Amino acid sequence: MRSFIEKTAFFGNTSAERLMAEYGSPLYVYNENIIRNNLKTLSGLITKYPYVTNYSMKANSNMTLLKIALEEGINADAMSEGEMRLLLKAGFPSDRIFFVPNNVSADELRFAIENNIMTSLDSIDQLDLYGQLNPGGRCAVRLNPGVGAGHHEKVVTAGKNTKFAITDDQLDELFATAKKHDLTTAGINQHIGSLFMDPEPFLASVRNLINMAVRFDKLDFIDFGGGYGVPYHKVSEDEQPFDFVTFEKKFEQLLDEAVFKLGYTPLFKTEPGRFAFCEGGVLLGRVHAVKNNADKRFAGTDIGMNILARPTLYGSWHDVEVIHDDRVTTDSPEVISVVGNICETGDIIAKERLLPHIETGDIVCVLDAGAYGYAMASNYNCRLRPAEVLITSSGDAKLIRRRDTYDDLFRNLL
Ligand SMILES: Cc1ncc(COP(=O)(O)O)c(C=O)c1O
Repeated sequence: MRSFIEKTAFFGNTSAERLMAEYGSPLYVYNENIIRNNLKTLSGLITKYPYVTNYSMKANSNMTLLKIALEEGINADAMSEGEMRLLLKAGFPSDRIFFVPNNVSADELRFAIENNIMTSLDSIDQLDLYGQLNPGGRCAVRLNPGVGAGHHEKVVTAGKNTKFAITDDQLDELFATAKKHDLTTAGINQHIGSLFMDPEPFLASVRNLINMAVRFDKLDFIDFGGGYGVPYHKVSEDEQPFDFVTFEKKFEQLLDEAVFKLGYTPLFKTEPGRFAFCEGGVLLGRVHAVKNNADKRFAGTDIGMNILARPTLYGSWHDVEVIHDDRVTTDSPEVISVVGNICETGDIIAKERLLPHIETGDIVCVLDAGAYGYAMASNYNCRLRPAEVLITSSGDAKLIRRRDTYDDLFRNLL
């Protein structure tokens, strides 16, 4: 399969070596054209009914990228006070932000109330707390449609094995709690999990949520959550993209049924995170050592698990391209593990892969790193988080987050 970074001219007018020379290594690089195309796919998903896409900003919270989402007509959801603050700072008006928290304090709920941000409560206790803080107010509730999906059990957020949302058998208690505080339930939402390529569980959950929706008084909106998948094996296995065309048809049929059952047309929403930025981001790192241990071969890079946590956290697969003398190479494939510089044996980006021959000094380019990449990065081992650079639509590189400094690292120490 052809190189993704060559096929998409990912680095525009510049190159991996030039980017690394200017901004350091490792480095997150984003491509504005790819990002805008994917955002357009999301915003145009449903045209038959009133519909809006909320970008779930936990996937990538870079301010410049948030502003691009805003320009593309996309709203946003937030999980924390920090995310709400950042969205407001990026220019999202409060009526385009949806707060979808889990187990938060009164202070965090108060911030949303004071800023007129619609909030969804995902347990009876949190609904009760919200009612105490905002009696007579309007809110939403997060429901568990009984069906979950996702790339790993840790990211399945509906069904029986999850801490999230309110189940069918708690609806009477929900109504009683809302009534106690004179709350109007303006909307309901769900999120069944992250990364599905097969839409059937999602569609089943849509059906279930609609059946729960009919038990509510007239709702302003129904939000079906996110989870649209990205083909992480696009180079290694020619994996095809999520089939939005077929999905849209099936989804729309269910919305037809919803409108029929409800007897009115609410605003429909979905809440994707990953799909928005995943493919539009790659992670570059430098190979500092290549070695053998018994029959295993390792390429040691500066991409530690602190820079990209997904492989260590979930065993996730990211395709890797190898850049030698500033060109993608496909020469002399051999089985090798690409590892980082963190003091853990699990610090592995790509385990025992058939990759082109790698030498010290080469660059590795980790694909599909634009979602849950930088957002999950940490300073573990007192390492600095990298810079982020955007290749703009004109093909030029623009720094959109500077690399940590050692002052940043030690700032909070007393
Ligand atoms: C409430 C909620 N909505 C939306 C999303 C976005 O999911 P994805 O990035 O898989 O689209 C998440 C992800 O965890 C979430 O927790």
